[in-house]
Amino acid sequence: MASRPFAASASHVVRAPGRVNLIGEHIDYCGLPVFPMALRQSLRFAFHPRSDREARLVNRDPRFAPCAFAVNGSIPPAPVGDWGNYARAAAQALAQRFPDLRGVDALVESDLPIAAGLSSSSALLVAVALAIMHANGVSVPSLELMELLGKGERYVGTAGGGMDQAIILGARAGCASRIDFHPLRLTPTAVPADWQFIVAWSLVHAEKSGAAQQAYNERTRQCDEARRRVAARLGRREDISYSDLLAAAPVEELLEVAGERTTLSGVLARRFRHVVTEGTRVPQAQAAMAAGDFAAFGQLLDASHQSLRDDYDVSHPELDRLVELAREAGAEGARLTGAGFGGSIVALCRVERAPEVVAALRERFYAPRGAADDVGRHVFMAEPSAGAEVIRA
Ligand code: GLA
Repeated sequence: MASRPFAASASHVVRAPGRVNLIGEHIDYCGLPVFPMALRQSLRFAFHPRSDREARLVNRDPRFAPCAFAVNGSIPPAPVGDWGNYARAAAQALAQRFPDLRGVDALVESDLPIAAGLSSSSALLVAVALAIMHANGVSVPSLELMELLGKGERYVGTAGGGMDQAIILGARAGCASRIDFHPLRLTPTAVPADWQFIVAWSLVHAEKSGAAQQAYNERTRQCDEARRRVAARLGRREDISYSDLLAAAPVEELLEVAGERTTLSGVLARRFRHVVTEGTRVPQAQAAMAAGDFAAFGQLLDASHQSLRDDYDVSHPELDRLVELAREAGAEGARLTGAGFGGSIVALCRVERAPEVVAALRERFYAPRGAADDVGRHVFMAEPSAGAEVIRA
């Protein structure tokens, strides 16, 4: 399929943004709230409906080979790591709900960095879902769709939480959104006009469906086991949620119990400590943003990074270095964002200080790594943007 003539003939385009998570990392799958925002950088999915079940996707990025499959409730996956599996995941989730869906022809392009912790893959999943629904004239209420796609993405083999799909679909321009789970709800908070979140890539790829997958899934199992053991030690039901645990006892008490050797091993105790402390940082960060308390938000970012690095073991020396340099350059706080193991950091500074921070990262991080010329691609100002939408081509 020649891409240019197709782009001209597509009837509609889905714009699906990436996201940067401000705080609340690796706790969505524990059912605890998170606080991300959508980015201006997005994936664009130009499509037109087909009369049969086939879905045919061509990517303008030559690293991604064309992908084709039949839309139905049981779609055989391509090998692990194949980008088309995110499209299959969306199609299968919808087909399990609506029988006899027709497919689409589509052209994908994106200015979202790939494998950078900014949810480029969930943006694809959401775009495919919106395109297929539009092409078939079916719809799913927004919160239900977020849940459907959150679960649907597990098709790729990652036991993810629901943060990415929820923010990509439900973000509001100018705002970060607190996302609560069980039941799912989004609460937007305006980002103060003089706050600037800067995203900087570590130059280390973090493939959510690649090497990091096993480490990610291992964390989800560890959190579950830690929760069950602490609950048993406290005489609570084994299936009590993290939110209910946090509501039932003060954090200090939970940490004390978790720290006892008879309750948890060293690793599980550290995982547990990350989850419950990060869980308390999210409402604090939301309140700090609402109150315009810049210093408090910065401290929470720093504490989150430390916890992810020391207790959750998902950082990387290059992420730690970027965080350190951003802080030295005047950022009020900085942390890794997304699943980690590489990917990006997010740093907070006043709007007027942003050029200084970027210049320092260029000189002290990117230049020594031979990447100074590409700073414009590796570092950007995060603009809180609206969620995904279908627009006329
Ligand atoms: C990935 C997952 C999310 C979330 C983050 C870590 O992006 O898709 O559900 O768990 O990692 O916070």
